[in-house]
Amino acid sequence: MDDTTVSPADGAGAGAVSRRRLLAGGALTVGGALAGAGIGVAATDGDGSAGSAPAASRQQAPAYGTQRIAFHGRHQAGIATPAQAHAVFLGFDLAKGVDRAALGRMMRLLTDDAARLTRGEPALADTEGELAALPARLTVTFGFGPGLFTAAGLEHQRPASLAPLPRFSIDRLQDRFCGGDLLVQICADDPLTVAHAQRMLIKDARSFARLRWAQRGFRRGRGVEDDGVTQRNLMGQLDGTANPAPGGDVFAGAVWTDSGPAWLKDGGTTLVLRRVRIELETWDAADTKAREFTVGRRLATGAPLTGKAEKDLPDFDAKNELGFPVIADQAHIRRAHVTDDRARIFRRPYNYDDAPAADGRPDTGLLFASFQRDIGEQFLPIQRRLAAADLLNQWTTPIGSAVFAIPPGCPPDGWIGQSLLE
Ligand code: HEM
Repeated sequence: MDDTTVSPADGAGAGAVSRRRLLAGGALTVGGALAGAGIGVAATDGDGSAGSAPAASRQQAPAYGTQRIAFHGRHQAGIATPAQAHAVFLGFDLAKGVDRAALGRMMRLLTDDAARLTRGEPALADTEGELAALPARLTVTFGFGPGLFTAAGLEHQRPASLAPLPRFSIDRLQDRFCGGDLLVQICADDPLTVAHAQRMLIKDARSFARLRWAQRGFRRGRGVEDDGVTQRNLMGQLDGTANPAPGGDVFAGAVWTDSGPAWLKDGGTTLVLRRVRIELETWDAADTKAREFTVGRRLATGAPLTGKAEKDLPDFDAKNELGFPVIADQAHIRRAHVTDDRARIFRRPYNYDDAPAADGRPDTGLLFASFQRDIGEQFLPIQRRLAAADLLNQWTTPIGSAVFAIPPGCPPDGWIGQSLLE
């Protein structure tokens, strides 16, 4: 397919159900109109940023709206992809009676929707096809929760540590943010694109699954600062500094699952999603020194308290003039730090800021999303240490928790989850 122009009839997914075939004609007409109007898209390499290509009939293409991330590939997009500005995480419960065959039908359908929308084309039966034309680096990433394996009669294929996390002493979990059999993570640089993709995917999942929760998150708007700059969370901290860099060997060894069930091994991973509430009202009372002491890094630069620049490695042995550690024993980065590269996690968090309470208290926090090859070997030991002692716990409270296996990506003639469900 041409990289710069949407072709709505291109790449129809295998196995779209008959209801959709009936509706397809209408959708194609909308898409055809879009292509005819010269609405263009620019491709990316799936993991990275990309330039935008001007559409033929526009004087100047929008800076970011036409950029797209390849859907197909060895890994699902939306993991190593530089985080887009907006995200919604959707957790579904499977309907009673949805078995392995029905799951296969659902995943064919949802894969087809995701492949089209990420290309900048309307989904089949898309009643607002105009909204699909600007994918803005849209990615759709699917995950399977523990319950899906039970429903499919595939318990023996469930990765060993894919189970609800143990309750930690710091947790104040609310059922409405926990669990889920199916995850759909939708990310894009535009909230309208996210909303449209969300609507299409929920609609098509409806005959198989009920929405259990939807959690929206955001980062800085694209273009507000340079791409690649570490994001700030709502506590004002640079958040993501010590992440393994996507594309590198350390990232690959930490993120892509290389043991366990064969269906997951070739390009899959796992996701832990924790909704962590932040008490901004009391954080306001902490001065800069206390805030930096809590994390072990400076607010302005993100540098460790033992260094000068953001990327300087922390010196956990350094002592101050009184003989105390410069990075406190219970500082967040000391408690969360691991020395073995294979034990690292890749954090891809989003901020949330929902409607404040009537008295003005914020409902704010972090959708803490971490990808790792194995939850038990990587995420759990870190979370256990943080639950046992972490100065940050004074201001943060986990209120949601969910785990998913993230299947590998798929080729253009395949669908997500095929090697498990077919
Ligand atoms: C609201 C909750 C949280 C906030 C505000 C937060 C904030 C931060 C900040 C500011 C840093 C230092 C900069 C960086 O490397 O990104 C950091 C590092 C880190 N955090 Fe968190 N964090 C939170 C929850 C968690 C949780 C739940 C985990 C895992 C269970 C975690 C794991 C880590 C790890 C592994 C590092 C890197 C440590 C190192 O330097 O090696 N964080 N976090």
